Amino acid sequence: MFGIKKKQEKKTKITADDSLRHIAFIMDGNGRWAKGKGMPREFGHKKGAETMKNIVKYCGSININCVTVYAFSTENWKRPENEVNAIMELLGQYIDYLYTVMEKDNIQVHFLGDKSRFTPELRARLERAESDSSKYSKILNVALNYGGRDEIVHAVNKLIEQGKENITEADIEANLYTSHCPPPDLIVRTAGEIRTSNFLLWQGAYSELYFTDVLWPDFSESDVDKAVEAFYRRTRRFGAVV
Ligand code: IPE
Ligand code: IPE
Ligand code: MG
Repeated sequence: MFGIKKKQEKKTKITADDSLRHIAFIMDGNGRWAKGKGMPREFGHKKGAETMKNIVKYCGSININCVTVYAFSTENWKRPENEVNAIMELLGQYIDYLYTVMEKDNIQVHFLGDKSRFTPELRARLERAESDSSKYSKILNVALNYGGRDEIVHAVNKLIEQGKENITEADIEANLYTSHCPPPDLIVRTAGEIRTSNFLLWQGAYSELYFTDVLWPDFSESDVDKAVEAFYRRTRRFGAVV
């Protein structure tokens, strides 16, 4: 079970143990949050990026050593050009931010997804951030131009290139974008949609799923606590009898 540490007189702080090594977030609802405020969708993405910084930091502080955030899907290119451009600009700002925290917060960043769709400049920056942070140890995966189907096809094509004939599950796993980390124990989706939208199709086979109506820009530390508490109330069986 997880520990509850007394911090102050009344406040308790959740800490995760080895059964919750990896938490993943489908950060949804930026557009609706902005609309509710009579603002353009881009405004929601800006606030969503701030939320992402706070939530990643908080997860580290409660001992979760691997965090994945779904930032942009292979299908999100269908959105209006100005929205896509605004998200790409925020991404550039986020890379700068990462350099200000990676050492202090011990963050090793990975960008999951097909980077070939980005401009050569952006791609180089993404790759540089990955190599510059490789000496740190808390894993942060930012899924960008990420699709679960695309990832599996990409893995299979890599195996074909290697001349493999009898492909095993282990072969596929070793060639997924997430080969450096365990599968997610808990996948959280905000904003009320009850679907996974092409996120971690392979890795999520036995993940616990948690859905909340809270829109991503409003998602707070106490919402993380609620998801983690719900996770610890689940019984994971992995197909066995427990
Ligand atoms: C999630 O928020 C961010 C991305 C998919 C890039 P949305 O932009 O999907 O927000 P809603 O679902 O339209 O409210
Ligand atoms: C999923 O959200 C993708 C991200 C959070 C990056 P979407 O808003 O794209 O998903 P759908 O369209 O509601 O399924
Ligand atoms: Mg959405």
